[in-house]
Amino acid sequence: MSYIKEIDRRRTFGVIAHPDAGKTTLTEKLLLFGGAIQEAGAVKSNKIKKGATSDFMEIERQRGISVATSVLAFNYKDKKINILDTPGHKDFAEDTFRTLTAVDSVIVVIDVAKGVEEQTEKLVEVCRMRNIPMIVFINKLDREGKDAFDLMDEVEQKLGLHVTPLSFPIGMGYDFKGIYNIWEKNVNLFSGDSRKNIEETIAISDLESQELVDVVGEKPAIKLREELELVHEVYPAFDREAYLNGNLQPVFFGSALNNFGVREMLDCFVEIAPSPTPKESDTRVVDPREAKFSGFVFKIHANMDPKHRDRIAFVKIVSGTFERNKPYMHVRLNKNLKFSSPNAFFAEKKEIVDISYAGDIVGLHDTGNFKIGDTLTEGENMQFKGIPSFSPEHFRYVNNADPLKSKQLEKGVDQLMDEGVAQLFTLEMNGRKVIGTVGALQYEVIQYRLEHEYGAKCTYENFPAYKACWVEATDPKNEEFAEFKRIKQKFLAKDKFGALVFLSDSEFSIQMTQSKFPSVKLHYVSEYK
Ligand code: G4P
Repeated sequence: MSYIKEIDRRRTFGVIAHPDAGKTTLTEKLLLFGGAIQEAGAVKSNKIKKGATSDFMEIERQRGISVATSVLAFNYKDKKINILDTPGHKDFAEDTFRTLTAVDSVIVVIDVAKGVEEQTEKLVEVCRMRNIPMIVFINKLDREGKDAFDLMDEVEQKLGLHVTPLSFPIGMGYDFKGIYNIWEKNVNLFSGDSRKNIEETIAISDLESQELVDVVGEKPAIKLREELELVHEVYPAFDREAYLNGNLQPVFFGSALNNFGVREMLDCFVEIAPSPTPKESDTRVVDPREAKFSGFVFKIHANMDPKHRDRIAFVKIVSGTFERNKPYMHVRLNKNLKFSSPNAFFAEKKEIVDISYAGDIVGLHDTGNFKIGDTLTEGENMQFKGIPSFSPEHFRYVNNADPLKSKQLEKGVDQLMDEGVAQLFTLEMNGRKVIGTVGALQYEVIQYRLEHEYGAKCTYENFPAYKACWVEATDPKNEEFAEFKRIKQKFLAKDKFGALVFLSDSEFSIQMTQSKFPSVKLHYVSEYK
């Protein structure tokens, strides 16, 4: 059956990194190898530039770029690769977390000099919780950085991973000679100017041979032999099962900018990375090879043109095939929908396609039917799990600044929340609306977009909350829960899905509440079950 062959050859992954570690550069080099772009510089960085323009203009610029780079697809060897874009900036962390529900594996980029940074820790933690297979790429070996063993220790300790190197650097910075490829048993020599050319690879069958000395010089050869012996003693042999289960992470070294060590990683990646993986729904686990289509919305992107209110919903196909003009069931609305122009994504463009396969992402034009997390099926009544909302860090009341435009404001706020720009909480006590965001930047974006896309004006007022905790009542009928609701009345709200949330003003208050009402559980993530 050819559709199974198509599914099996798909590799859908995300590159995660702290800003500046080299995610954009690495992605670009992967696209070059896939022949998807012809020259470096074609992929624009989606990071927020500091200083140059006011914040919201910068966000608009970023939004434009991120439509183009949401999914970058290309063929390499016999595999179809889909790279899903994950913003590194912390104000967009939630976007990245949601995208991670749609990947089957990830590549983690770490700067050799800076080591493990804050955003890397957060993103890897989410991947670890979901047992997503990870490959680590240590970048910028052309610069002076930390010792390879120290770095691997740091990765294990700070990120809680179990690593094994599949390549090893020969020198570093000024003395960087190249990479020994443990996976393929050869040496790759660094010429310092391999930006455009594929570098020279020399097979070394025996590390003890004179061959190695001739290639890298005597001192580096001796050092490499010692280091590889240590690698052998300290790290486990690569085991694909362990990698696929999220229990072992192979490490590669290289320099994305110099296009060095990237091919080794990509060649290994296409061999070991998983094809589309099964996904849990509220009723069962769905296998990608099932004939019937199922998928879920992990991202919604508003049209950049304010005259067109339509949006693109990004759907990850979990199983089967998605066909143009075939009716599919929108489970939450219990309604059949047909899509006449589903988009598939390639390196720098999108195209209307007749058929897409599990592992692929399709972009569907939407006029307001979709929310993040919605499931589409061929008729089965199930909902995919795992699109979490995390507690925002900032909270503000939103007020209507133009009484004649209250409908527009409501609609605008509603749609921006569907897109996942921020979270809306409605206070139980008086129905006032509070917007929670991960970064302060989003308030500017919301205000700007409400005005330009919906013709509505809003002002903000500080709401003194520290964290939003989703409330789980282990026994909703007991006295304790009633008492909790009475005492905390002022701080209780409903999220967009009607779930009860406690907007606490301090860590202390969370701890006090937990000890006073032990049958009421508080969670920082909406999907706690
Ligand atoms: P990001 O997407 O993770 O934020 O990082 P990006 O690829 O934009 O890279 C951040 C900076 O690091 C860029 O420099 C980039 O050229 C540089 N870089 C990436 N890989 C390497 C490498 O292997 N070696 C060295 N030495 N530098 C590397 P920039 O000056 O911020 O930007 P640009 O002006 O070069 O675009």
